[in-house]
This record gives sequence, C-alpha cells and structure tokens, in this order.
Amino acid sequence: MKIDILTLFPNMFEGFLTESIIKRAIKSNKVNIEINNIRDFSKDSHKKVDDIPYGGGSGMVLMCQPIFDAVKSLAKDNTKVVLLTPQGIPFNQKMAENLSKEEHLIFICGHYEGFDERILSICDMEISIGDYVLTGGELPCMVVTDAVVRLVDDVIEKESIEKESFVDGLLDYPTYTKPRVFEDLEVPDVLLSGNHKNIESWREEERVKKTEVKRPDLLDKGKFKLYKNSENVKIIDLKDLKGYSFHPKNNAKRTDLIPVTNMELMFQKFKKNVAKTNIDKKILTLIKSSILFFEEDSSEDNAIIVLGEAERLKALIKNYEKILEKEYREEIEAKIDLLIQEIKIEMISSKNKEEEIEEKQSRSR
Ligand code: ADE
Repeated sequence: MKIDILTLFPNMFEGFLTESIIKRAIKSNKVNIEINNIRDFSKDSHKKVDDIPYGGGSGMVLMCQPIFDAVKSLAKDNTKVVLLTPQGIPFNQKMAENLSKEEHLIFICGHYEGFDERILSICDMEISIGDYVLTGGELPCMVVTDAVVRLVDDVIEKESIEKESFVDGLLDYPTYTKPRVFEDLEVPDVLLSGNHKNIESWREEERVKKTEVKRPDLLDKGKFKLYKNSENVKIIDLKDLKGYSFHPKNNAKRTDLIPVTNMELMFQKFKKNVAKTNIDKKILTLIKSSILFFEEDSSEDNAIIVLGEAERLKALIKNYEKILEKEYREEIEAKIDLLIQEIKIEMISSKNKEEEIEEKQSRSR
C-alpha cells in the first residue's frame, strides 16, 4: 500500500513515521508513506497556499491550485483521495478496514480556518476523527493512518486483530498480567485455571458485559445477539452472517422470519419488548386472581393456586435475566414478594377464623 500525505507541516510526522509499528511496516515494505509539502506545489512566486475568504470573514482559506496540482501529480487510476476535516464522516474501525484494502491513498490535511469548498470536488471521502476542532488535519491524519496501516496484511498478527475492540461490534475482553494480586486487586480465577474452553467463554461473556456497560450504543442499530448457548453470546451484524442460509419455519413465505434450531436471532430491543409485554400480561392475571382471592375466595386451596402463579412469574422473570435490566426485574420481584406475603397472611388469618368458627360451633353443640 502507498499513502501520500499532503500537509503544510511535514515535520509533525517525523516521530510518527520513525517509531514502533508504523516504522516496522515501512521498513518491511508493507507500506510506503510519503510526506508531501503542499507549499511545494504552489505556483505563486512567494509559495502562497492560502488567501482571505470571499465575502469576508476571519482566517485564511486553503487555495485550490496547490491541492489540485498535488493530487493531479500524485494520483493514479486506483487512488482514493481523503480529506481530513471536522465536517467529515466520523471515523470508525469499519472505515479503517476498508481503507486498509486500498492500493493508494492520498490524505489531505486541511489547515487554518478552512479550505476552498471546490477542493471537495477532487476528494472521494471526507473523514473526521470526532466532534471537536483541532488546529489542523495532521493529527487526524496520523490517527487514521495508524488505524489503517496496522490492518494492512502482515503488519501485525491476524490473531490480535480478530478479537479486538469494535471488530465484531463488541469491545475487547479485559486482560491481566503479573502479579496475580496487586494491592488487593486479584486476577479472575478463571484465567489461572488453565481451562481454555472456560477462559474463552469467560472472555466472550466479558466482552458483551463490558460493551453493555461502557458502550451500549454499539449494541443497538441492526445488531443481533446470537446465542449458541447461554454462555456463548455474541453480538453480530446480520450482514456479517455470510455462509449461513436461513429457511422460514414451516416453509412460510416470509423473508422477515429467521427460524433457527440452536441459535436465536432477534433485535435486542424487540426481545426486551416481548419479554416486558409477556410479564405485563402475567402480572395482570396475577392481580386479577389475587383480587378474587382477597374479595371472594380466601380458601387455602385458592391461596395455593395464586401463590403458584406468583412463583411461576418470579421464575419467568429470572429467565429474562440477560434481557431485562436488573432494576426492572428487582422492582417487579419485590412487588410479587409483597403480594405473596399478603396472601400468606390472609390465608393464615382466614384459616384461624375458620378454626374459631368451628370451635364455637362445636362448643355450642
Ligand atoms: N481537522 C480539524 N479537526 C479535525 C477533526 N476533528 N477531524 C478531522 N480533521 C480535523
């Protein structure tokens, strides 16, 4: 891969290109990175590259001429021209992956207050590294170059890329190294167990948990939770399921249904809604039976039926452990427990009443 960087500040790239993985990638010819000074392409006798904005306003604007000429002289048939600007598409791992497959990239680092809008006409893509404004495109260019180069074939081991953050929509699993205990902080036992299967499932679970806590936004939008079993949960994008074929249940001609035998594919939000609707329905039934119990039939037999209903509902809520928030589950469980308690009290008091009546009757006989 070849990367041409167009900048007004070539010196900023010195350390970046001469250290660590980028240095190694260049040395082993996996990537060729050239820093081009935009000023060298200026046709102005004073090597001018910017001017005041038409219509007034503050700051200087990067001119078309040096950029157009630089791109013309560097571009080949297969070149992708990328402009670094806060107005661009927010950069992510998928974009890094796509760019790492290109043969030739030209990165244009915007600078000063802005650039002549006509520069966009020769760019294939605008990239932003986040919703904040830096003094120029140089640091963003290094960020994007770093993320791209490490994904170029054989720059780093494939294995380290496969399970890292964002690759399959999840954050990375937690890692630990020696010592085993540091200031009362212990390494999780499973990692010392030597049981690779357990370690693997622990790591997968931790990735899901970590993502749910730190970046719940990653789990939304078109992503599905795929369960091989309760321990093996993976977040996937439906479009990533290449090689799988799905056949609607009972041969129904429905393209929106995906029946599976040992996997579950469902929008997380949908699954949550289904669970909540199910619980709401069951709570309503339980409330109705409780009202009947309190107002009409407080017999022991009826109490046993209502209590059984309450326990089954509690078990159902427990089953939804992975889908419903802890607070929601605990709130409902507490209400059911209160109801159970009231039913038991009522059952005892009506039993006592019955016994009292029986006693009175036997005494009067
Ligand atoms: N130039 C200035 N700020 C930037 C940002 N956030 N992303 C990309 N290029 C920029």
